[in-house]
Amino acid sequence: MMKRTVSLIVALILLISLASCGAGSQPDNTTAPGTQPQFETITETAGEPETVSATKTLVVYFSQTGNTKPIAEFIAEQKNADIYEIKAANPYSAEDIEYSSDTRAYREQHDPSARPAIAGELPDLAGYDTVYLGYPIWHGEAPKIIHTFIESVDMSGKTVVPFCTSASSPVGSSADNLHPLAPDAVWKDGTRFAAGASDEEISAWLGE
Ligand SMILES: Cc1cc2nc3c(=O)[nH]c(=O)nc-3n(C[C@H](O)[C@H](O)[C@H](O)COP(=O)(O)O)c2cc1C
Repeated sequence: MMKRTVSLIVALILLISLASCGAGSQPDNTTAPGTQPQFETITETAGEPETVSATKTLVVYFSQTGNTKPIAEFIAEQKNADIYEIKAANPYSAEDIEYSSDTRAYREQHDPSARPAIAGELPDLAGYDTVYLGYPIWHGEAPKIIHTFIESVDMSGKTVVPFCTSASSPVGSSADNLHPLAPDAVWKDGTRFAAGASDEEISAWLGE
C-alpha cells in the first residue's frame, strides 16, 4: 500500500513538472483584444526620411475648344504632376477650325510639313520621366501643333502616354503616327475619351 502511494506521488510530481515545462516552451500567439501581437515587426525608424517616388510627371495638352483641358487637369491632379498647355502662337479662329476642307486646320492636317508655331516658352523635360500628352482629334489625327511640340523638346527616354478627345473617332493611328517624331521615347498605347469623360473613367484608365 505504502509502495503504491509513493509511486502515485512520484507520478503526480512528474506530471506537474511536465505541465509547467510545456507551458514555458510554447510561443503564445494569442493577444488580448486591442493589444499588438508579440511578433517582431519591421517598423519605420523615427527621423528617417520618407521614401519619395523619383518619378516626375508632366501633363502636356492642347485643347482648342476646351474638351481635352479638364481631362488633362484631372490627370495632373491625380498624378501630382506639373501641367503645360500648348497654345498656338497664331491662335485658331472659329473659321480656322470649321469642319470643312477649306479651312486652316484642314490644310495643316493634310500638309506633312505643317508645324504651327507654339506661343511662349516650352517646358524643359529634363526633370521628367513621364509625359501625358493630350490633344483633340483633328481630321483623324493629332493636330499638327502636337508635332511641333514633340520636335521642339527632347523626349528621348521619356515614357509618353498619349490621350485624346474626339466627337467619335477612336485614338486610332493618331498616337502611333507621333512615334517617329520621338523615336527614342517609350510610347505607351494611347486612349480616347469623349468630351466630359467622368473622373471614374479617367481614374480607371490611370489605374491600369
Ligand atoms: C478641325 C477639327 C477637326 C475634327 N476632326 C474630328 C475627327 O476627325 N473625328 C472626331 O471624332 N472628331 C473630330 N473633331 C472633334 C474634336 O476632336 C472634339 O470636339 C474634341 O473633343 C475637341 O477637343 P478640344 O475641345 O480639347 O479642342 C474635330 C474638331 C475640329 C475642330
